[in-house]
Formats: sequence, C-alpha cells, structure tokens
Amino acid sequence: MGFWKSLFSPTEASSVPTQAVSDDYAINTTGSEQTARIVFSTDRNIDLYELEELCDSVGWSRRPLRKVKKAIQHSFLVVTMWELQGARKRLIGFSRATSDHAFNATIWDVVVHPSYQSRGLGKALMHQLIKKLRSEDISNVTLFADPQVVNFYKNLGFMPDPEGIKGMFWYPE
Ligand SMILES: CC(C)(COP(=O)(O)OP(=O)(O)OC[C@H]1O[C@@H](n2cnc3c(N)ncnc32)[C@H](O)[C@@H]1OP(=O)(O)O)[C@@H](O)C(=O)NCCC(=O)NCCS
Repeated sequence: MGFWKSLFSPTEASSVPTQAVSDDYAINTTGSEQTARIVFSTDRNIDLYELEELCDSVGWSRRPLRKVKKAIQHSFLVVTMWELQGARKRLIGFSRATSDHAFNATIWDVVVHPSYQSRGLGKALMHQLIKKLRSEDISNVTLFADPQVVNFYKNLGFMPDPEGIKGMFWYPE
C-alpha cells in the first residue's frame, strides 16, 4: 500500500464500539475475538468489484467499471478506508478528488459502508482527504452534496453558495 495511516495502535483497542475523536479511532466488531483496526490508504490499486459492492451498499447506481477505473486513475487523490482484522481487510470507505494541481480540487464519491456509518468515520475520511489536499497546497476545495448530506459537509466547514456563488450544471440533451 502507498500511504497508510493507522488510526490507533492495537493496545488502545476497545472491545466496545466507540465514537471517533479526531484521528484516534478504535472500532470493534462486537463479539469478534480480534480487534479491528481502521486504516486509510491513498493507493488507487483497488479491486473494482469491492468498490462496486461498497457503492451498491449505499444504493448508488452502477457505473461501467471501465469508466470507474479511468476516473480513479485520473483522479488527483484517492483516499480509501479499510477495516483490518487479522489477515482480512475490507474496503469500508472511499473518496477521491480531481484537481488542477495548483489552486482547485473537487471532491467526489464520498462513501462509508452503512455498517460503519455514524461512528465518525465519514468525518475521519474527509479529514484525511482534506489534509492531503492542503499538504499539496490546494486551497480551494469544492464538492457537490446530495441534499440529505448537506449538513454532514457543513459540519466539516463547507459552505453552500459562499458569496452567492451558484454551482451550475450542463447535461447533454
Ligand atoms: C455521508 C456519509 C459519508 C457520512 O458518513 P458517516 O461515517 O456516517 O459520518 P460520521 O459518522 O463521520 O458523521 C460526522 C458528523 O456528520 C453528521 N452526519 C453524518 N451523516 C449526516 C447526514 N446525512 N446529514 C447530516 N449530518 C450527518 C454526524 O451526525 C456527525 O456529526 P457530529 O460530528 O456532530 O457527531 C455516509 O452517510 C454515506 O456514505 N452516505 C451514503 C453515500 C453518500 O450520500 N455520500 C455523499 C454523497 S454527496
């Protein structure tokens, strides 16, 4: 894997699911013997079927895998989130950003598997993505929020229509 960030050391593991606090995160699949670790990666060598399964789990429409592969390859940054348990690793979150590599980046395809939602992991995933964009000196970060997740992004400091600026779209007839 390229860049891995382990969110907590195994010794800090709790046997009870806990809420995430900033970067320190412990997660446990209740009843399992091995504590799971949540880690992030920027490696874009992702099993596309595993990614499709993740997107299916939140009800997103399927997209041709060849185009998904191309989108990933041509993204500026991809941050994935994995649950590691023993030798097993599971893709539980995905996000990516496109960019002009200088000023602007746009975030796409932010998703956390429903079994792992509401534990602060979406926020942690976004923090990783934004931290990496900032480390590349990108200062203008935009995204398109589905109506039901506007507050999720507002919580993270995103502003709808700053200074009256409107997102505008063009679609082929
Ligand atoms: C949106 C999504 C990524 C959030 O992930 P998550 O792991 O559940 O979010 P978190 O647990 O990190 O929540 C962080 C904060 O946002 C809030 N939040 C989470 N989902 C929210 C929502 N849909 N609306 C409003 N607030 C939300 C949480 O209450 C939490 O608030 P707090 O910091 O005050 O406690 C996840 O619900 C998801 O994958 N949804 C389906 C795909 C999707 O809609 N993606 C966005 C496309 S634009």
